[in-house]
Parts: sequence; structure tokens; C-alpha cells
Amino acid sequence: MANASTIRCLITAGPTREFIDPVRFISNPSTGKMGFALAEAAVDAGWTVDLVAGPVALEEPDGVILYPVVTAEEMLHQVDALFDACDILIMTAAVSDFRPKVQHAKKEKKGDASMTIEFERTVDILKTMTERKAQQTVVGFAAETHDIRAYAERKMKEKRCDYIVANKVGQLGTGFAADTNEVLLIAADGSSTLLGPDSKQAIARELITLVAPGKE
Ligand code: CTP
Repeated sequence: MANASTIRCLITAGPTREFIDPVRFISNPSTGKMGFALAEAAVDAGWTVDLVAGPVALEEPDGVILYPVVTAEEMLHQVDALFDACDILIMTAAVSDFRPKVQHAKKEKKGDASMTIEFERTVDILKTMTERKAQQTVVGFAAETHDIRAYAERKMKEKRCDYIVANKVGQLGTGFAADTNEVLLIAADGSSTLLGPDSKQAIARELITLVAPGKE
């Protein structure tokens, strides 16, 4: 295994916010707990950790370099700036897939009965990074409500990840916003390991050991 003190890890965490106007946005229920737990576990393993986090209500973990961002566009630029120097990218962030096509500079008045908002796709940060991947180990997350393994494997291939962590969401007690989690770690060679149910901290420690660069 590579010397732990030389491993530089880039982790993304939390949701992004995509603004409709200065006081309204679309987002998702991610709290960033899994990404922050991974950052702590990586620091404990002796790694250098860059943590790019969307808006979360969590304390900055000791020993990480924190880069707060808000939108998917800001997250893309921050990850883009840090990716070439990292040995491992772990994308736990729940990046918004869409953003309003128009962001109004002033608060929109509610008007009468209904309103229609047109959305456009945000950039896929993970895919953009793996297109220029060199030495990096890349770990994606797949938040799924059903057919978890099949969708996660498809995402791993499409986004050219070395590993994907399949995460069941939409159920009370696991996934988004919960303190516990149960995940399936799938490697590009098809092998898989079921982790949990356990605390996000315990799962994070196991994941950091299993995906450590230089293991393969
Ligand atoms: N991801 C990303 N950029 C985006 C959307 C997702 O980098 N614009 C990353 C996530 O951080 C995660 C992986 O892609 O590591 C899978 O995210 P997920 O939301 O599960 O999948 P999507 O690609 O959004 O696909 P779908 O919504 O169709 O399930």
C-alpha cells in the first residue's frame, strides 16, 4: 500500500443549491454526514484531506482543508482545481442534476395561481474528472431507491469509476440525513462488499481501508 502520509484525498459532501431567485432554491435532503465521516476517517488514516462541501450544518472536522461551496457550478470549479493533485477522489456529494435555466436577480413575486420553471442539466462533476483521470482512484456514490446493484453498476461504468458505493435512500433510518447506513461497495472488477447496517463513522472507516490507493 502507498505510504499513508503521502496520500492526498479529495472528498465532496452534502447537497448543492440551485437558485431560482435570491430567496428560493432547489436542493435535496443530503446532510453531508457520510462525506464528513469519510473525511474524518481519512484524516485518522494519516491522509491529507481536501473536503469540498455544499451547505451543511456540521462542524469542520479537525485536520481537513475545507472548501465551502453552494451550487453545482461552484463545486465543479473547486473539484476541478484540486483533482490533478489528488490520489483519490470520493464523490459523496448529492449534486443537483438540474438548475433553473434562469436565475432571477430579484425576488420573484408570486403572481396568481401557478408558475412554471424551466430547468437545465448541471455538469456531471464525476464524469468530467474521470475523462482526464491519471493516477487517481475514483469512488462514486449511487443513491438509489430500487434495483440498487444494477443501477449502481451502470453508473460505475458510465462514470468510469474504480469503485461505486451503492446507497439505498428514501427509507427511514438509512441513507440521506440518517446517522446509520448500509452500503454495497462494488469494484470495477465486479467484486462487492456489503457494509453495515452500522454508524456512518464505522462504515466510513471500513470504506477508507477498502478503497485506499495502492491496494490493487
Ligand atoms: N454526480 C456528479 N455530478 C452531478 C451528479 C452526480 O458528480 N451533476 C456524482 C455524485 O456525487 C455521485 C454519482 O455522480 O458520486 C452518482 O450520483 P447520483 O445522484 O446517484 O446519480 P445521477 O448521476 O444523478 O443519476 P440519476 O439521478 O439518474 O440516478
